[in-house]
Amino acid sequence: MARVALVTGGSRGIGEAISKRLKADGYEVAATYAGNDEKAKAFTDATGIKTYKWNVADYDASKNGLAKVEEELGPIDVVVANAGITRDAPFHKMTPEQWKEVVDTNLTGVFNTIHPVWPGMRERKFGRVIVISSINGQKGQFGQTNYAATKAGDLGIVKSLAQEGARYGITANAVCPGYIATEMVMAVPEKVREAIIGQIPVGRLGEPEEIARCVAFLASDEASFITGSTISANGGQYFV
Ligand code: CAA
Ligand code: NAP
Repeated sequence: MARVALVTGGSRGIGEAISKRLKADGYEVAATYAGNDEKAKAFTDATGIKTYKWNVADYDASKNGLAKVEEELGPIDVVVANAGITRDAPFHKMTPEQWKEVVDTNLTGVFNTIHPVWPGMRERKFGRVIVISSINGQKGQFGQTNYAATKAGDLGIVKSLAQEGARYGITANAVCPGYIATEMVMAVPEKVREAIIGQIPVGRLGEPEEIARCVAFLASDEASFITGSTISANGGQYFV
């Protein structure tokens, strides 16, 4: 029977590439999204992958949504916590709302996504937890105190879960993408974006599929001895 994989924010951007790649690798995939119904429908029409709508920042909504996925597709074996947002501003201009929205989505959202499926993984003695962090969680970024804090926090979650899951056949790893060509990066002012591309040794933005490949590897049986690790895929922009 095919393993079941859940990808939050799996209907567009990096998540879309992850959903498609996992489906191509033989997983039964469920993709979640927050509010862009039109894109989610187009994604399902094109791929046949089911989509589910809930806000990852809401624990009860996540728990109920994940239960529905498991009811319809079976126990979740692979969970990819990918949903994330930016609310960039220099620290002196950052509002408490910008801080909270990003923490609620990118950090608490990761807890909300993994926590409800964790007991089942322990019982079944198998699980793959993969969190999409960021280069900016590793190095910090002007204008992203909120975002960088959450993405660094995500690495702490993964390293701790790796220790708790090891005896139960569960691995927990992170992928830290550099700047990838999605709507999130296209929202950065063009001049700033061009300056950032100038700092990437390979001379271009990454493609979502280049991140999906890392996720596919971490989800596979071949990665069973890799846990608590981070794969950096950033075109040489930052070495950890
Ligand atoms: N280093 C040093 N100084 C910088 C700087 C940097 N990286 N970026 C901007 N500045 C300077 C500006 O030159 C400007 O200087 P002056 O006041 O002397 O002109 C000042 O800081 C900023 O000016 P403002 O107060 O007008 O700033 P702003 O309110 O317009 O906000 C910003 C600027 C929103 C932070 C904008 O610079 C920005 O969007 N930066 C990009 C941040 C970024 O990389 N975001 C990543 C989004 S994608 C993502 O997050 C995915 C991922 O994981 C990689
Ligand atoms: P994106 O194109 O903006 O897509 C974001 C996806 O997440 C969408 O499917 C969106 O749903 C969903 N989402 C956002 N907030 C949500 C919420 N509260 N609840 C549920 N779903 C939510 O982003 P991306 O560039 O693909 O980024 C994906 C992940 O990679 C993020 O965690 C991001 O921080 C990380 N990352 C991105 C880059 C990059 O350069 N792009 C680099 C490093 C790390 P809707 O479609 O409904 O809005």
